[in-house]
Amino acid sequence: MSLLLLGRWQPAERDRWLRLLQAALPNEQWLLAPPSSAAEAAEVEAAIVANPEPGSLAGLPNLRLIQSLWAGVERLLQDGSLPVNVPLARMVDPAMNEAMTQTALWAVLSLQRGFFDLQAQQLRGEWLAPQQPRASEWRVLVLGQGELGGRVAQSLAALGYSVSGWSRRPAQVEGVLALHGDMGLAEGLAQADVIINLLPLTPQTSRFFDAARFAAMKAGASLVNLARGAHVVEADLLAALEQGRLRRAVLDVFEHEPLPTGHAFWRHAKVTVLPHCAAQTDPRSAAAVVKGNIQALRAGASLQHLVERQQGY
Ligand code: NAP
Ligand code: GLV
Repeated sequence: MSLLLLGRWQPAERDRWLRLLQAALPNEQWLLAPPSSAAEAAEVEAAIVANPEPGSLAGLPNLRLIQSLWAGVERLLQDGSLPVNVPLARMVDPAMNEAMTQTALWAVLSLQRGFFDLQAQQLRGEWLAPQQPRASEWRVLVLGQGELGGRVAQSLAALGYSVSGWSRRPAQVEGVLALHGDMGLAEGLAQADVIINLLPLTPQTSRFFDAARFAAMKAGASLVNLARGAHVVEADLLAALEQGRLRRAVLDVFEHEPLPTGHAFWRHAKVTVLPHCAAQTDPRSAAAVVKGNIQALRAGASLQHLVERQQGY
């Protein structure tokens, strides 16, 4: 049997993944392109994938596991030919969790202490010390209390911020006020100085940040989107920034990536653009995660981080 490794990678990146996966799973046969014959297709036992081309996981009769190397699996689930009865696991990588926490802390600290504004001041040659609010005077709302959102919320709370976390089901995260449901969301949006988005992209959360949601936010709040571009109605965000309802947006993800040349976000004084780098899967630690699931598959043990396809995450 063989393991199929597929992704939209540059050759050097693909080779790095292969090298680390081969080191973690030294006795495997690897297939690096969709099978070219029925015999080759019948050999594939598990597919390890980074958003491969739609259709590339169809026609694999003995496939028993799809292991995503990405945390978000919406692109895989949008592929109508994805085998329905094969377990789909998503990536939960300790190094990705650490990186996401760092990005969120940087954004909140920079907003609270006015550091983004100081960058603009420097360009104007202005010497003007801003006010210095305390962390405890700032409320941060983290949308999504899963692997990433829960850790981000806990780390912010540990730094002294007042933190609320919103999720589908009530979550228990140390030091974090748990919110859920429409009422919880309304309360959270109305009170937060910073809203961090770490929701998965599903039919329920697509276009989540629209004009109505911006209107429900506390005046002068800032949005930090670290999840997916399709969570935000970009025209509504631009309007909310122009009207002064929102103070700033820190955006790592966009409706179209790379962010098109000439897009209003690039040069907007109230927008900070990151190139979808808030938290990347680290092949060094992710290879061990893949190894764990392949070994569990062979041993008939429980697979980790399975996606509930009905829920979309
Ligand atoms: P996760 O562990 O599956 O957590 C998802 C959280 O969202 C859970 O708390 C879940 O609530 C909540 N949720 C889902 N649907 C909801 C809804 N309709 N209403 C309220 N809450 C809802 O996911 P994760 O690993 O933290 O990752 C989150 C997302 O981050 C990924 O899907 C991906 O899009 C994004 N991401 C971005 C980057 C980047 O570099 N920018 C990197 C990695 C991941 P329950 O707990 O009640 O189920
Ligand atoms: C990155 O955005 C991921 O979902 O892993």
